[in-house]
Amino acid sequence: MKLIFIPVIGLVLSGCAGKSDYSPPADATGEAIFKAACLECHEPKEDGTFFELGKEKATPSAIAETINKGGFTMPAFPNISGDAMKKLSEYVLANSKTAE
Ligand code: HEC
Repeated sequence: MKLIFIPVIGLVLSGCAGKSDYSPPADATGEAIFKAACLECHEPKEDGTFFELGKEKATPSAIAETINKGGFTMPAFPNISGDAMKKLSEYVLANSKTAE
């Protein structure tokens, strides 16, 4: 009986804040990076937007922080930075609904 629980515990420990080793190509657009790294988990809604961002989350720097740090189940993307991060976070913001 004990053995059954070991894989479950392993999954919980490693599932929290995993890391992606995805690296964007130098000339990738924000859209291309999103399609390659994010779309598998973040599909567009019916109106074509990806996120509904609260006021404090709706800035390129807050989005960049989410991407670099990940979330409870979202992996962190430490290799997206600089120009690629700027393009990606602006793409995310342009394709999200934001609170007024
Ligand atoms: C393995 C699935 C997965 C991948 C890949 C992924 N995400 Fe996420 N993302 C999530 C989950 C799940 C959440 C909700 C927070 C949590 O539990 O981690 C989230 C939350 C977010 C949020 C915060 C939304 C809010 O309401 O505040 C943003 C922004 C975001 N992701 C952007 C991205 C971007 C950009 C990428 C690609 C670089 C990406 N995600 C890749 C699963 C993923």
